[in-house]
This record gives sequence, structure tokens and C-alpha cells, in this order.
Amino acid sequence: MAVLEHLTSQQAIDLENKYGAHNYHPLPVVLSRGEGVYVWDVEGKKYYDFLSAYSAVNQGHCHPKIVGAMVEQAKTLTLTSRAFYNDMLGNYEQYATETFGFDKLLPMNTGAEAVETALKICRRWAYQKKGIPENRAQIIVCENNFHGRTTTIISFSNDPVAKENYGPFTEGFIKIEYDNLVALEKALESNPHVAGFLVEPIQGEAGVYVPSEGYLKEAKALCEKYNVLFIADEVQTGIARTGKMLAVDHEEVKPDILILGKAISGGVYPVSAVFANDAIMDVITPGSHGSTFGGNPVAAAVAMAALEVVKEENLAQNAQELGELFREELNKFIPTCDLVVKVRGKGLLNAILINDTEDSSTAWDICMALKENGLLAKPTHGNIIRFAPPLVMNKEQLLDCVGIIIKTLQEFKK
Ligand SMILES: Cc1ncc(COP(=O)(O)O)c(C=O)c1O
Repeated sequence: MAVLEHLTSQQAIDLENKYGAHNYHPLPVVLSRGEGVYVWDVEGKKYYDFLSAYSAVNQGHCHPKIVGAMVEQAKTLTLTSRAFYNDMLGNYEQYATETFGFDKLLPMNTGAEAVETALKICRRWAYQKKGIPENRAQIIVCENNFHGRTTTIISFSNDPVAKENYGPFTEGFIKIEYDNLVALEKALESNPHVAGFLVEPIQGEAGVYVPSEGYLKEAKALCEKYNVLFIADEVQTGIARTGKMLAVDHEEVKPDILILGKAISGGVYPVSAVFANDAIMDVITPGSHGSTFGGNPVAAAVAMAALEVVKEENLAQNAQELGELFREELNKFIPTCDLVVKVRGKGLLNAILINDTEDSSTAWDICMALKENGLLAKPTHGNIIRFAPPLVMNKEQLLDCVGIIIKTLQEFKK
């Protein structure tokens, strides 16, 4: 079969099933085109994208400015490795560090790589700056976290599916309940070897858990009290998704280490970054960390354009306003419907809880019905459906989507 032959949905699904590893369970829809808030399948059916590639496509599909930056740069210079300087990286680093208010950034590619990088920086800081004895550093993490898929990161996951038969695991992590300041202080005061606290400002994969107001601010204050680095994983919540540029901005918290990925590239290219000030970042020395593709000129051009789009198009404010409207509309509907228990979220990162057991297929079946009605979403865990459309959506489109969701739920039969 010729590589570029046009396929039917079924043919494309069969090919992936036969030749690809089965590490995902996709909704059976085969997409071949995207523009703004819409995607089209190979048969030409149009859908609202209500997942945005797990919040990577915040700026909308194929944003012309971001794609344009990528194409232009790809025609000029794509990869030098960091063995040499390139004329794009420094510009981007200046722009991004000024945007987020840090001295420096370390460029990587995927979210998981950036989390790994942050963990390494934190450990080095512990030995070189805090004076923790070698190999004794501990990092506090939260129950039900999701930070990616590397062996070290899954070492502190409590998702059995993500961990099973992948041991032995990496040591040096203490797990505490999310949104529990008492547990955090207990872990900090009882162990002088704690180097950092790694936290998602909203737990996305776990089902869009928004912590109590003040949690992040208090947690940061506790970290300061015990001389521990506050590490914010904003791979999913960052870049305007929750109604501010960063989710920590809602509580005016400045992390010691900030991790960004996904939408820092508008979803057109794998770009991630770790930000810190010099007193922390200077533990990184030549040869101690790296990535062949991290900081390549295409990534730099794309990320700069992607950040510019977020500012130029006021996407944070749009996410804030449309998010409020979305929850308001669903909150009017939920009392009339036995199927949904609640809606929760911030900005345009939201979820509904389905009134069924965690192991039921109801959330999946609702997503299948939503697909039939022209809207693509996916369950996160069990009975929770995440709703995260591109932030370039307008009010009319959002209300249209609310209409589709309500109609689907009203007509849904178990
Ligand atoms: C909070 C958080 N951190 C890290 C990651 C990992 O990112 P990637 O899949 O790009 O490795 C994700 C992905 O969903 C995430 O939501």
C-alpha cells in the first residue's frame, strides 16, 4: 500500500492496530484535518475538538502564525544540536523568561522530559546548595499525580496500570494527599532531607481536581519556611488554559521551578521548558544534562510564535470568560439530569462527573454519543469526562457545544 494513499477510517484503525503498539485506547475516530476549534475525520465529518490534544492545542489547530513560523524556520535551519549555538534559541529564551519572570530556562521537548529535568535540578540544588548528604534527597509528590511516563516519574504514580511490571522503581519520593496542607507540613518538618515539592496546580489527568482556594499559596509559604523548592508542573494547566497565563497566577504564587510543555508550542511541535532563577539553575553545568533536539531553532521559532499568539489574542481572558459561562450553563442543566453529578474546573479546563461506578463504561459510552453528535472528548479516569476545547473558541461556538453536550446527555440511554 502506498504511504500516501487515502484511507477510510476503518482502514486507518486496522493499520494502527496491526502495526502499532497498543499503548492507547483511542476513541474510534480518524482525523485528517484541523482548523481552529474544529477537526475533520477522513470521511469529511466535522467535529468540535473538546480535548485539544490534552491541552496542547490551546491556540487552535494549525494556527497560521505558529505554522508559518515553523515552515519558515524549517526552510532555513532545523537542527544544530547544542554542540553549536543557533540564532533562534537565545531570542526565544529571552522572550520566554521575560514572559514568565525567571532568569533562565532549560529547553527540552516533551512534558515528561521537562519534569525529569526539574527533578534533577532539584536534587542537585539539594546537594550543592541546601547541603543534604549525597543520595539522601527526597521530593514530596501528591497522591493521584500525573507527571508523565518515564521510569522515574511512574515510580511515584499511584496508577497501577501505569506501573505494573515496570519495576524496579526510582527511590527518593514521599507521597502525600493532594490539597492537604497538614500532610505537607508534617512531611516537611519530619524530614530534613526534603529538597522539593512537586505539584500540579490543578490535577488534570486525575480528573480535573481543583484544590481549595489558598492551597498553592500556603504550600509555597511552607516550602519557603523549610527551605524546599516549590516545583509547579504546569504542563497541562499552563499557557492560559485555566484563565490566567499560569494556574499559579490565580494565587499570585511564584514557583521556584516552573515546568511547561504542551501548549508552549501550540501543539505543532514537541517543546517543553523548565524555568528557574540563577541561584537554582546554576547547578546545571556543561555536560550534566542535555537533549539533541532540546532548544532547536524550529522549536524556538514555534514556541515564540505560540506565546505571542496567546498574548495577542487574549486567550487567558477568553478562557476565563468562556469557562465561567460553560460551568454556569452546565450547572443550570445538572439538577434536571440524573446522569451528571457535577461540573468542576477553572477557565477552559473542566470535567463532569458521571453518576455511575468508576469501573463502568458510561463515561466512554457518553463520549461515543458525543462523537456521533459532532464533539470529541475523552474520559480521564473512570466516570469523569474532561472538557478542554482550544482557547480560540468564541461564545457562539461554546454555546453550540453546550447544546450538543446537553442534548447528548438528555438522549443518552445506558
Ligand atoms: C501535568 C502533566 N505533566 C507532564 C505530562 C507529560 O507530558 P508529555 O506527555 O508531553 O510527556 C502531562 C501530560 O499529560 C501532564 O498533564
